[in-house]
Amino acid sequence: MGERRCPGPSSGTAGGGPGSIARTAPPGRTTREDFFVDRNLPRRERLLTSARPLPDLDVVSASGPWLRLADGRRIFDGSSGLICVNVGQGSEAVFSRIEQQFRRSSFGGAAVVRPHLQLELMERLCRAVGRPADSVALVTCGTLGVEVAVGLARNIVRARGGKRRADILTSTLSYHGMSAFTLALAGNGARRPRTEDAFGLGPAFPAPYPPTHGHAQGSCDASCADEVAKAIDSRGAENVAAILLEPVNGTTGGAFVPPGGYLRRVSQICRERNVLVIHDEVLTGLWRTGTPLASHHWDGAEPDLCILSKGLGAGYTAVGAVLVAPELAPLLRHKDADPLPALGTMATHPLQAAACLGVLDDLEAMDFDAFRARGQQLGAGLRSLTGQPGIREVRGLGHLYAVELEPGLLWPLMEQAERNGVFFYPFTGAGQPKSEGLVVAPPLTSTADDISHLTTALSNAVTALAHRG
Ligand SMILES: Cc1ncc(COP(=O)(O)O)c(C=O)c1O
Repeated sequence: MGERRCPGPSSGTAGGGPGSIARTAPPGRTTREDFFVDRNLPRRERLLTSARPLPDLDVVSASGPWLRLADGRRIFDGSSGLICVNVGQGSEAVFSRIEQQFRRSSFGGAAVVRPHLQLELMERLCRAVGRPADSVALVTCGTLGVEVAVGLARNIVRARGGKRRADILTSTLSYHGMSAFTLALAGNGARRPRTEDAFGLGPAFPAPYPPTHGHAQGSCDASCADEVAKAIDSRGAENVAAILLEPVNGTTGGAFVPPGGYLRRVSQICRERNVLVIHDEVLTGLWRTGTPLASHHWDGAEPDLCILSKGLGAGYTAVGAVLVAPELAPLLRHKDADPLPALGTMATHPLQAAACLGVLDDLEAMDFDAFRARGQQLGAGLRSLTGQPGIREVRGLGHLYAVELEPGLLWPLMEQAERNGVFFYPFTGAGQPKSEGLVVAPPLTSTADDISHLTTALSNAVTALAHRG
């Protein structure tokens, strides 16, 4: 494993900054390709994926939360891939569901074929998250889930008579996907650094966390929700369709948990103004935080619409689902309602639905007492790092934690942890001052020994770095 450095702004281009790419034709070459293709770009950089110095693992096999590498080593997946491999890899339940469906038929879009499997998935999913009578739109990823939720929310408020309602308000510490629209809307300055790319959109209220709210650590409370009221009132409630928020922050700030009473107060404020509440549970949904939905940690925090994705596909399939509360869904079929902003070519793919049903089989077969105990074990192991050199804060709940670090420690710690047999997801926060650290999010099916391996490997890595100075 070579020395890993955080890339500067010019990374992703060969030979330094964009200006250094040769744009002149070499002698004797005059085709268009000769002018515009940078022939020196290394093969790895031609694949336009993360420019971060993430783990570079040559995986030959995977089982549950463990990866086997080409050099014979085993490494533990402390981030569930991209916080999605919630039931581990190689699930027999998922395999057999996909296999059965594949033998039956491998395509059947809902506009053509009666979507039996999707109806089954809808019912299982809604029951699993305690919203048994919800309506569901299926899509192919979290970003599209957000896009469709925005469209559905607008249709609902307009069918209720709020013809001017279009605005969707988000918080200053939020990520809602990588389309041009969701990047414009959300408060992740690291992913959308230029205001001129925001279509005049952008976050509308401060998240109730110190990095973006100017409060001292731990001093945000439910009254921070009044900022949501201010944001709605300053635009005029008659222009606002919905508030969109992550009930527990994912990777943008690193597993920030809102103050008690905050989400309930946001819901009250919105209800008083006929504004809908959309929870983006793309990352937190389906037990990641210890409960089926993250909003279940607090009373009165149930949203009108809820977006799920990562934990539903669990890394086996690309999927997103938007759940709509039963008192609102009929408005989407109202005779004067606008056309449904849902359905895409692959949105009701039978193999996708089969994989999701397999994931739900696995999740529902979990020993929930043991699962909760593993979450507590993880929390206790990570919190014991508090006060160690370089550790700023440990926060989170369930199987979702962040270990915030002093600046400069992130990449060396990632490397050291990897040498110790575990890897994590790095967060490089969007707040000011910027926070950075590790998102720790092992698969929900991890055993006590697995969690113990994770916390020991991380703790040893922290100690090793402290000794190095
Ligand atoms: C909270 C949240 N919303 C939306 C998304 C986008 O989901 P996807 O990457 O599946 O498009 C993510 C992805 O990380 C997320 O964490």
